[in-house]
Amino acid sequence: MTATLSGRVTLDDSIFNPEDHAFIRDPYPTFRRLHAGYPVAWHDRLQAWFVSSHELAAAALRDTEHLSIRIDDWEYAPPNYGQKAESEKTGFDRMWEHSLWTIPRDKHIRLRRLAMPAFSRTVMEKIEVRIKDLVNKVFDDIGQADEIEAYSQIGRLIPAAAIARMVGIPRENEAVFEGLAWHMAEAQSPNLSQAERDAAMARVLPGFEMLEALVREYRAMKDPGDGFLGQLVKAQDGDARLSDWDIISLVSAVLVAGADTSIDLHTLALRALLGNPEQKALLREKPELGDAFLLESLRQGVPGKSGLHRYALSDFELGGQRIRKGQRVCPFYSAANVDPQQYPDPERFDMSRSHEGNILFGAGPHFCIGNMLARVQGLLMIREFMARFPDAELVDGTGDIDYDYHHHNARRITRLRIKTNIH
Ligand code: HEM
Repeated sequence: MTATLSGRVTLDDSIFNPEDHAFIRDPYPTFRRLHAGYPVAWHDRLQAWFVSSHELAAAALRDTEHLSIRIDDWEYAPPNYGQKAESEKTGFDRMWEHSLWTIPRDKHIRLRRLAMPAFSRTVMEKIEVRIKDLVNKVFDDIGQADEIEAYSQIGRLIPAAAIARMVGIPRENEAVFEGLAWHMAEAQSPNLSQAERDAAMARVLPGFEMLEALVREYRAMKDPGDGFLGQLVKAQDGDARLSDWDIISLVSAVLVAGADTSIDLHTLALRALLGNPEQKALLREKPELGDAFLLESLRQGVPGKSGLHRYALSDFELGGQRIRKGQRVCPFYSAANVDPQQYPDPERFDMSRSHEGNILFGAGPHFCIGNMLARVQGLLMIREFMARFPDAELVDGTGDIDYDYHHHNARRITRLRIKTNIH
């Protein structure tokens, strides 16, 4: 079946159900079905268009004329979303009001422009030393163990700490900052009841208080320096500067978008390395392929279930389907990244394939602002792992793998066992 304007192509749970355990364990059969007949299709229960074709998902990500990331543009957006009286607003409300995902498009462009120097090569080079130190510590703690569980001993330990080091959070506040990462992700899960959401939102407040104090400290400095926060405090647009909540909200966005996603980069990279001995040999021979190795781990490993949604600003056509104003549209990264039209033989792990035009870190105005940090930490981790455990293998050849079946967005590996073979 192909899409035509004359008939709406629809999906139901029998074809794609992101909560289905079989899909979480192995999403490829679902993707094969989607690519064969549902490049753009409406899912009734999930009330969203799913765009599984790589070409169309990439186009949707860039299409700012018809699609917006702001939930206010959804036909079912809660009334007066985020519009409480000033005196009733909590830190969470203020963060959300200034967020990359809620501000109007012109403000988003300005915020990204002002924030760019904080993600520059110079800042990243300084950060690399701190991340290397962090990765070494993670492996020092593993020491000479016979077995490693990659999620709890590697994947979960690096990402939020890496962001803390990028932002320049003082060591004594790192625990509060990392708590903020997990509670923010929790507070944004759609699977919570209102009471659970309120409790999760309350848990993020100490993190915001700590960030407010830190930003105030940087503002008071004569020379806030060229690090991440220093760049943000100094960023200037004519006479205008970023406000405290612009900065706090940006740091929070970086935490939410960067900590949870990078966990999977580590586990998927390790699974790919140990599950493909010939690719491991190639990587050893050609370390310059490290970046391609990480991209291929993210592509073929399918870390996500769906992704951030968009909302239609007007009626328009996509892939032969009529999208109505206000409807939800999901550029379905995971499916798009294994579209055989873009990646021949997509289930094969092959770091030598072309990743040109990939959307692994998005595309268009919301392209991943932290992709360099993700790549730096991934490369440092994999190099250190290969140096310390050159003969490692997956336990039972599979790593005795298990998943979090309740994560709202990630196909999160929560168990991956590795035999180190060092004794
Ligand atoms: C392997 C790890 C990562 C992956 C796969 C990833 C992927 C993505 C993708 C696909 C988007 C675009 C979302 C959309 O437009 O629908 C995005 C946006 C974003 N990412 Fe990442 N990301 C990763 C790591 C990071 C890190 C480490 C940071 C921060 C240091 C970060 C910060 C962000 C931010 C702030 C945005 C939103 C940008 C905006 O809306 O303007 N990400 N990421």
